Formats: sequence, C-alpha cells, structure tokens
Amino acid sequence: MGTKVSGIQKAKKATPSSPIGIFDSGVGGLTVLAQVLKQLPNEDYIYLADTARVPYGGRSPQEIIKINQEIIPFLINQGAKLIIMACGTSSAIAYPVVKDEYAVELINLIDAGSRAALSVTKNKQIGVIATAGTVNSGAFQNKIGNEAQVQAVACPLFVPLIEDGMVETDETRKVAKEYLKPLISAGIDTLILGCTHYPHLAKVIKEIVGPSVSLIDPAVEAVTQAKNMLKKAGTIKTTDSPAKGSFLVTGSAIHFQDVGSRLLGKSIVGAKQVKLG
Ligand code: DGL
Repeated sequence: MGTKVSGIQKAKKATPSSPIGIFDSGVGGLTVLAQVLKQLPNEDYIYLADTARVPYGGRSPQEIIKINQEIIPFLINQGAKLIIMACGTSSAIAYPVVKDEYAVELINLIDAGSRAALSVTKNKQIGVIATAGTVNSGAFQNKIGNEAQVQAVACPLFVPLIEDGMVETDETRKVAKEYLKPLISAGIDTLILGCTHYPHLAKVIKEIVGPSVSLIDPAVEAVTQAKNMLKKAGTIKTTDSPAKGSFLVTGSAIHFQDVGSRLLGKSIVGAKQVKLG
C-alpha cells in the first residue's frame, strides 16, 4: 500500500511490470487507452471509470480537484507506476493543483494537445471543443498563449450522448453542427478535441468541419510523452508477455462494458465496481 508521508503520497516501487493508471469520468478515457494499446502494447494497465459521477464537465473546480485527490491515491495504491489523466477536465483544473502532491508521474492532456495543435496549424487559428469546465478554466487558451488565436466552445451535450453510446446518430450530428458553427465561421484550420470523449465522435466531426480542418486528439502526444518518461525512468515493460488490463468502475459495470466495448472496438469483460473516497 502507498503511504502518505509529509503530504506526499509515496508510490510502491515502480517496476517495468507495474501497471499504468488511466482514469476518466467514463468511456472518454478509452480513446486514451486506445493510444496506450497502440503505442505501448505490452504495458499492463488499470482503467478507472468514475461513472457514478459522470459528467465531470459541469462540476465546480473544487469538486474536480477533490475527485482527483481521491482517484490518484487510489491508483497509486493499486501500484500504478505512471498515471495518465485521461480526462481533459481533470487535466485543465486539477493538474496544476495536484501535480506535485504525489510521488508518481502524472501526464495531463492540455500540454500535449496544445503542443500538437501548434505543430499542425498553418493559419494560427485553433479551435478547441471541450467541457464547460475545461473551456472556463482557460487552460488551452493560456497554454497556447499568443502563439495562435484560440476559440473555445463548450459542448455539454456530447458526454451524455456518448455515455449512452449514441455516436453516429442524427441527433448527435445535429448537436455537433450547432457547436461547430462558430468555429467554422472563425476559419480555424486545427481543432483540438479537448475532452477525451470527443474522439469517439471524430468521424461525425470530420464530416462537418471538412478536410481543411485537422483534428487533434491530445492522447496521441500524451501517450508518446508517457512512453518517453517510462523509457527514461527505466520502467518501460520490455518483455512481450501479453498486456494485462483491468477495468474498475464506480457506477454500473454492465453498462460500462456494453458501451465501452462498442466504442473501444474490443471486448471489455470483468469490469469491477469499486468505491472511492
Ligand atoms: N472525458 C472527460 C474530459 O475529457 C470528462 C467529461 C465529462 O465527464 O464531462 O473532460
């Protein structure tokens, strides 16, 4: 068990066989897990979906920070050697507050997404779609600073639709068109999918914004960063024994397995319900 020493959560000794911790409010972080499976296929992982409290997007900063202060120590106690905040809202609001509280590497999506967008944009007009919490925090706008013009739009209806598995429906298309209108009018050439749920809608969003707008999934860059950190720390898994993954949920395991399997394109079985806090 990790112990709390002088306010710092001490991690178990990280070894190559320790798992990577990944967490989100629900099925959004599966878009990050998909990148982990692609870039770090041998790594064991623990995925925590806090579905009892989804959506996070409309919660106050205090609530988001408190939730992170429950989840991160929980994952450390499960032996996580590195934790990816597979949640834009947590990355935007809690990361700056908790980043030095724990003796484990924490990866956030704001730095990764901003870097990736800046490397792609030509006309320096970047759009961000994210939760209200992320947009109101100004995290992407501050990170990009004056290197580009940023226009951010909150899309609160997306997460409930995606959590219900409604990704390519007429209703989702209609809602997406409304949200994306001001960004298309602003002439963006790059769009950050600032909430991890949104890459599940990438096909629909691409149809609406057209080929001239590049979509940025911050997870691609964030997982590359995780890989580099593990290499540097000497804790990357080098044996190619098959990866072991476990799924923990705070809400219904059945619903998560059902919707999650469809969205991940891979069967999720054996999800366990856990209590946090
Ligand atoms: N997927 C998370 C994010 O990236 C949380 C979304 C929500 O629960 O509102 O912000």
